[in-house]
Amino acid sequence: MEKILVLDFGGQYNQLIARRVRDLKVYAEILPYTAPLEQIKAGDYKGIIFTGGPNSIYEESSPHYSPDILKLGVPILGICYGAQLVAWMKDGKIEHADTPEFGQTEVTVNPSSLLFKDVPAKALYWMSHNDYISRAPKNYMISAWSKKCPVAAMEYPKRRIYAVQFHPEVTHTEYGQLILHNFLFRICGCKGDWEMDDFIDRTVGELRAQIGNRGVILGLSGGVDSSVAAALLSRAVGKQLTCVFVDQGLMRKDEGDMVEKAFRDLFPMNFVRVECQEEFLSHLKGVTDPEEKRNIIGVRFYEVFWKNVRELYSGGFFAQGTIYPDRIESGKGDAAKIKTHHNQVKMPEDIHFDGVIEPLKDLFKDEVRKVGERLGLPHDLVWRQPFPGPGLGVRVIGEVTAERVRILQEADAVLRDEIAKSGYDSQLSQYFAVLPGVRTVGVMGDARTYSELIAIRAVTTDDFMTADWAKIPYDLLGRISTRIISEVSGVNRVVYDISQKPPATVEWE
Ligand code: XMP
Repeated sequence: MEKILVLDFGGQYNQLIARRVRDLKVYAEILPYTAPLEQIKAGDYKGIIFTGGPNSIYEESSPHYSPDILKLGVPILGICYGAQLVAWMKDGKIEHADTPEFGQTEVTVNPSSLLFKDVPAKALYWMSHNDYISRAPKNYMISAWSKKCPVAAMEYPKRRIYAVQFHPEVTHTEYGQLILHNFLFRICGCKGDWEMDDFIDRTVGELRAQIGNRGVILGLSGGVDSSVAAALLSRAVGKQLTCVFVDQGLMRKDEGDMVEKAFRDLFPMNFVRVECQEEFLSHLKGVTDPEEKRNIIGVRFYEVFWKNVRELYSGGFFAQGTIYPDRIESGKGDAAKIKTHHNQVKMPEDIHFDGVIEPLKDLFKDEVRKVGERLGLPHDLVWRQPFPGPGLGVRVIGEVTAERVRILQEADAVLRDEIAKSGYDSQLSQYFAVLPGVRTVGVMGDARTYSELIAIRAVTTDDFMTADWAKIPYDLLGRISTRIISEVSGVNRVVYDISQKPPATVEWE
């Protein structure tokens, strides 16, 4: 399989670069800049991309790499800091500008460069740098420039080494994907045959070879990642797979049933649903502190999970739905960590598995969703919005009781139904109802009511680090409010949360 290496120097876009490469149907993997040259040589890469990074090249503590990498004969594309690194490895010069070049910038390119084939002579490129290459190394041709940046791109085509000061991977760079395309297909000679179907076939083959006739136990949280991992393992080993689905009763309305139905109807496996809402609620009785609630839900979850695993265990493997972003931390590379419901599970000492299987560990979230769809998981299950591990426990503010969970589930179901019907869901990153635990006075018929308040939260965001409240049309908000008040008993008022993150967070607890 042809592969591109994204060598990570700590830039914020390292994963995005890998994504863009994979969008062009070439498999890309990320390694930290600390990966030894021998490892890179052994990786048999068709090309290497140096990412950007926040440092200044002449600082001793900045990430560097042995210039011997340029002698491997593998095509190289340096991006931003990675471009300066190429200049530094040879005899180029880097200087610190008085003012940074930041934002969309007009750049002129030399159209004779293979990297800029079919790219117009002038276009807008995303720049984000303080340092700049003031002199290209000997033998390097300057192939692009802007007002402030004398070397916006440079190259040594004979050795297939290219460097760009701008970021081709972000959408603010016009023709950025074409530039990456040129690098992959015209310079590295890639074919672009990375397909999800190939991934499924290959992974199923590998799983069968690894598992043999042994068993596999998978912790199914009900989320997208573990569901897709379950479907893939089912395709590979069928009834040798046992999925343990701990349903703590804090999922969205009917969600536990949807997950169970999908797996029981569509996939051969042993499916064990542990329904334990009562047990969870008894532990949450009288608890109002958000952190304490999170902690109780997390601890109980694993107690219940491992208790069931212990009963089912008869050797074999443990599987989980770890995906690529779970393993990668910027600049640190392959920082493998155990991921399950709350990303911090510890294996009990008395259960000894033959190994841990993570069949999705090389995939990004949207690739996981594509695999899920191809394996035949229902569309609604695969494309669900993010849901916090502690579930509705952190959306019922204050004490969690069966009645309050019921009210929230029903209100949330109305919200999701109206948003889906309006088609507005594609414009939202996450939307849900919250039960703030405030009762207000109202009037219904001729009678005074004193009932619960429901808050609606809906946000747009790229990365969930920052988020804006969604400008949902008033008439849609109106329909949601009317339906919740008339259909959900115990609610007499609805408000809309118009807080940005930061300073607010997406969830209320
Ligand atoms: P916040 O509230 O931190 O949420 O702005 C950002 C995103 O993270 C989700 N979230 C969680 N996910 N376990 C999870 O798996 C949690 O404890 C948790 N808390 C928040 C939240 O739904 C949003 O998508």
